[in-house]
Amino acid sequence: MLINQVCVLGGSGFVGSAIVHKLSAAGYAVKVLSRQRERAKHLTLLPNVQVAECNVLSDAELSMHMQSCDAVINLIGILHESKQFSFDAMHRELPARVATLCKKLGIKRLLHMSALQTSAEAPSAYLRSKAAGEAAVMAHAANLHVTIFQPSIVFGRGDSFLNLLATIVKIMPVVALAKPDAKFQPIWVEDVAEAFVNSLENVETYGKTYQLGGPRVYTLRELVEFVIFVLGKKRKIVGLNDTLSYWQAYAMEKMPIKLMTRDNVHSMEIDSVCQGPLAPELGLKPAAIEAIVPEYLANDTPRAAYERFRSMAGR
Ligand SMILES: NC(=O)c1ccc[n+]([C@@H]2O[C@H](COP(=O)([O-])OP(=O)(O)OC[C@H]3O[C@@H](n4cnc5c(N)ncnc54)[C@H](OP(=O)(O)O)[C@@H]3O)[C@@H](O)[C@H]2O)c1
Repeated sequence: MLINQVCVLGGSGFVGSAIVHKLSAAGYAVKVLSRQRERAKHLTLLPNVQVAECNVLSDAELSMHMQSCDAVINLIGILHESKQFSFDAMHRELPARVATLCKKLGIKRLLHMSALQTSAEAPSAYLRSKAAGEAAVMAHAANLHVTIFQPSIVFGRGDSFLNLLATIVKIMPVVALAKPDAKFQPIWVEDVAEAFVNSLENVETYGKTYQLGGPRVYTLRELVEFVIFVLGKKRKIVGLNDTLSYWQAYAMEKMPIKLMTRDNVHSMEIDSVCQGPLAPELGLKPAAIEAIVPEYLANDTPRAAYERFRSMAGR
């Protein structure tokens, strides 16, 4: 199958931007759909990248933008529900509509972003909705070459997870840590992007679901200890038991900016760890956090501060 133009939904985000950079470097024409063109402004200078404003809740708008494309990558996801956007709408309905539109428009290739440890019985609504989305796109596998990716937490410049831990470590003399023994297998955003781009035209990946994790498993406590070390701080970590973890998240849900919810705590009830090694056909040699994170977390120069402001402004 010859792929020239790729439509990327969620291309303005953290993972999406890395994928769009790699697609552009590999010579693909890329169409990034965003609710607001401004959010994807940082991609407009890349060769062969076009940014279009699109309300992805409208089939007519989606069709109009998807019809010129040979493949679709759907990365749209939310970590917290709001009155306006539910997990079900974003993680199940939208992927189902995208897959249906692919079939209608004769698009034969779909890469879909999910998450590690999804299942219909998962303890969190986020993971259950991601599982429903996977089932919805795989239901079209007879007419569409689908590949699904399930990463553990993704790290890299501009990530929300390690940067949030760094902010907490900088502000708090004592870190009250929910679910300190929860396990993660962090993977570098550039490795995730590589997996997507390497799979795009690789027939071996059709109809498959891939878990993505980095070279090492860490508990949440170990990750916070690592961040404390990188920042050169001295901090005490107090691990919270399950009841206190739950109440901490409940209190955080009431804050104007949701840093953590009870659903996030529930998702940490199962370890975000891969069942086996990375599939060889993805062609990855994943980087460890020790090799990448110090460069962006410990960089406190004025220039780095501008980078953070740019990232906060979505640029
Ligand atoms: N980051 C991680 O550690 C991680 C781990 C596992 C799985 N994932 C999955 O990977 C995907 C990308 O994650 P990310 O970290 O790159 O997230 P992100 O930076 O928040 O980006 C999310 C993207 O989704 C789009 N989006 C969000 N809400 C939307 C809405 N209501 N309607 C339309 N578009 C919306 C945004 O596009 P616009 O704002 O431009 O419209 C944005 O480009 C998600 O599906 C996430 O669940 C991420």
